[in-house]
Amino acid sequence: MENNPLFLNRSSFGNALHIGNILSEKEAKTLLNDWVKNDKLQIHMKQVGHLMKAFATSKGYGELIVQKWYLAGLLHDADWDQWPDQHCKKIIEELESRQIDPEIIRSIASHGPRYFGVEPISEMDKMLYAFDELSGFVHAYSLMRPEGYLGMEVKGVKKRLKDKTFAAQVSREDVRDGSERAGIPLEELIQFVISNQGDADLN
Ligand SMILES: [Fe+2]
Ligand SMILES: [Fe+2]
Repeated sequence: MENNPLFLNRSSFGNALHIGNILSEKEAKTLLNDWVKNDKLQIHMKQVGHLMKAFATSKGYGELIVQKWYLAGLLHDADWDQWPDQHCKKIIEELESRQIDPEIIRSIASHGPRYFGVEPISEMDKMLYAFDELSGFVHAYSLMRPEGYLGMEVKGVKKRLKDKTFAAQVSREDVRDGSERAGIPLEELIQFVISNQGDADLN
């Protein structure tokens, strides 16, 4: 792995004493609105938060766990808009200073192993990584379809993935690696995003 300026060069995040400390919905949205002025980035963060929540819910996890998944997704790119050269160091340090649950912080720290040098370990870590790029990709595809998510098919998404000129900024390698690390076939992940992403609350 090449050395990257965004590497966190850390392996432990937050404090185990703070397990179970989460931001309220209002606190999280205030942070989001204060830090992220770019509407497109806000949409991306809300969509990933929604997918994380939907996935944890589909697994039958309890309310606190579901909320943790949601917050990891919602805030994973919070510092990207104003401090791209400090992504995702700044949001990690902010959540540490607020004594937030270390599992949320760790998931955010490992949402791009190639960029931040932190491996996704927990299921929450792996799903955040798996959803991140795929979410943006399916969103881009929905915008070019007259009916958006309606009638969208896995094969249509896969066809676009093969077309390197479509949503070229989305790393196909990260999409593939994310699904492999999550241990979920790409087709299944794509279907999950198609089925759930359109319901995300973007307010
Ligand atoms: Fe990111
Ligand atoms: Fe992201």
